[in-house]
Amino acid sequence: RPRVTLAALAEKKALGEPIVMVTAYDFPGAQVAEAAGVDMVLVGDSGAMTVLGYDSTVPVSVDEMIMLTRAVRRGLRTPVLVADLPFGSYEVSDEQAVATAQRFVKETGCDAVKIERGGTSVARARAIVAAGIPVVGHVGLTPQTATALGGYRAQGRTAEAALALCESAVALQAAGCSLIVVEAVPGEVTAQLMPLLDVPVIGIGAGPAADGQVLVFHDLLGMYEGGAARFVKRYADLRTAAIEGVAAYADEVRTRAYPAPEHGYGMPAGEAERLRE
Ligand code: KIV
Ligand code: NA
Repeated sequence: RPRVTLAALAEKKALGEPIVMVTAYDFPGAQVAEAAGVDMVLVGDSGAMTVLGYDSTVPVSVDEMIMLTRAVRRGLRTPVLVADLPFGSYEVSDEQAVATAQRFVKETGCDAVKIERGGTSVARARAIVAAGIPVVGHVGLTPQTATALGGYRAQGRTAEAALALCESAVALQAAGCSLIVVEAVPGEVTAQLMPLLDVPVIGIGAGPAADGQVLVFHDLLGMYEGGAARFVKRYADLRTAAIEGVAAYADEVRTRAYPAPEHGYGMPAGEAERLRE
């Protein structure tokens, strides 16, 4: 497969072909995304919760996100690779945003960075783009500032809130964002937004009108213990499969069924006898 580019994703939008995005946080996850033939991989700060065990995305550090992104980079060849800039690493100033984005590009080899919200993030997006680094915007439910949004709940549910959301998305596009992620908004809001944007729109809990969809790896594979959002569809139950596998191993160790002769090594002829002498 030829490498996917941001230009190829814009082309997909023009052709009306849905864009497939999934998150990944490590080398095997990246290999799965590669083999499954997705268009785009996001090293989301959702990894703070799915692989690092924090109870929100807020505490994850730049160093931690860089380590996850480097692991994904090693397992990925074809899809576009986007990395989330974590909470607190870009909001303070354009200089902070550019410096953090440059660290991600230099140290991980990601193709683009993602930042959350409209507001002050519009100027940050413009600054990062001006520094030559593609930016993905993210509006609607923005988990880094979920507390200010009243928790993990759908956004844009009033006409005023929906219009404000559309304005943010348009401002992010005008700032040079290559793509916009829209999370947890009524399908009507996404439908209203689509004709306002030329860049691809990737939805998560944003209905069918978006140009593509993104889901969290651990959510869609059933690997994450804890309440899943309404928009999550489970395509596999890997957590149950993993527990069954480890429990079967534990049982065989305890009953001495494992290891069997075929799992062991032998010595060359005569060596066992010499050893016993
Ligand atoms: O961190 C993440 O996984 C995300 C996607 C859900 C868009 O930001
Ligand atoms: Na994120």
